[in-house]
Amino acid sequence: METLRLLSPVQLGPYLLPNRIVMSPMTRNRSPGEVPNALNAEYYAQRASAGLIISESTAISREGLGWPNTPGIFTDEQMDGWRHVTDGVHARGARMFMQLWHCGRNSHPLTQPDGQLPIGPSAIQPTGTVRTHEGRLPLHVPRELPAAEVPRLLGDYKAAAQRAMDAGFDGVEVHAGNGYLLDQFLKDSSNRRQDAYGGDVLKRCRLLLEVVGAVSDVWGPQRVGVRVSPTSPTNYRLSDSNPQLLLDTVLRELSKSRVCYVAVVEGSSNAMPATHQIDYAQARHLFDGPYIANNAFTLASAESALSQGRAELISFGRLFIANPDLVQRFANGAPLNRLNEETIYTPDHRGYTDYPSLDKLAAA
Ligand SMILES: Cc1cc2nc3c(=O)[nH]c(=O)nc-3n(C[C@H](O)[C@H](O)[C@H](O)COP(=O)(O)O)c2cc1C
Repeated sequence: METLRLLSPVQLGPYLLPNRIVMSPMTRNRSPGEVPNALNAEYYAQRASAGLIISESTAISREGLGWPNTPGIFTDEQMDGWRHVTDGVHARGARMFMQLWHCGRNSHPLTQPDGQLPIGPSAIQPTGTVRTHEGRLPLHVPRELPAAEVPRLLGDYKAAAQRAMDAGFDGVEVHAGNGYLLDQFLKDSSNRRQDAYGGDVLKRCRLLLEVVGAVSDVWGPQRVGVRVSPTSPTNYRLSDSNPQLLLDTVLRELSKSRVCYVAVVEGSSNAMPATHQIDYAQARHLFDGPYIANNAFTLASAESALSQGRAELISFGRLFIANPDLVQRFANGAPLNRLNEETIYTPDHRGYTDYPSLDKLAAA
């Protein structure tokens, strides 16, 4: 069989990765008390034949949390928990970046410190509900983040980036997609500000670029990646009136910041249609560095995207949930396990660490 492009090495910032297969960030709600645990460490270690693993979204602060049982990186206990995860992943040869997360308005006073309102770019009522300790409850109109508070927010990102370094990660990914805080600032349906952080597209990019600057102070830009999802309605249907301009601008500006990579969710990553059709293939050339493409890729479509120069790496999400040894299965042309939708977010090892590897199946 012809050698797979996915299995060829690639340089990512300072790291030479053994393959171009990235495990996409995926929230699994299995960190009670918001602290990573031994089960989480086992889950990631099982998947460490990926060239790069991006952690599930990890809250930079208590204010950044969206709902319970998702991990954070704002206490020493969380940092220690993550160290077990990175040790296990490194022992099996992968690199791991932490996805830094602030949910912004997609949270609830029951989850926020002192019962405060979640923050957002503008005081606009979001539609939808969010998990809390008391079940799913409607979202509130957020408190508009005053510009004077931005330095404090950047400080929270910086502290989280430092803790991620102390926890043994190889870099960080700034989450600016999927409807969370930085995406809320990027898109004009949620950002109606008229100050330096809202208005034209460059102003809407400003908070993201400042966050990239803050975490680059800790890591250097070559170990900082950024994830965006310009047309995916995932999480409360955020949309922008001109996502092509938004993506083009973000990529141009990130190129100037010299970040390590951009990761782009192309189209819609859930059942709803994409908000717009845009030209990702053309936009990617605006970023002078590795481009990680994502969304619904298969082995065949990933190979085709790599061979067309559409991307340097491909990230896989759902396939990695069900196939801990996805890399080996691709390499052998082996059949894939099917995803059990019922156990994606359930609390224990079922549907998490019990998907069989080929080795386990052979030994059975
Ligand atoms: C269970 C689940 C949890 C997810 N959590 C995150 C997350 O924490 N951060 C993020 O950026 N994307 C998240 N996503 C989106 C995935 O990273 C990915 O973009 C999406 O699943 C499409 O890729 P795929 O078709 O290869 O699964 C999640 C997706 C799933 C299925």
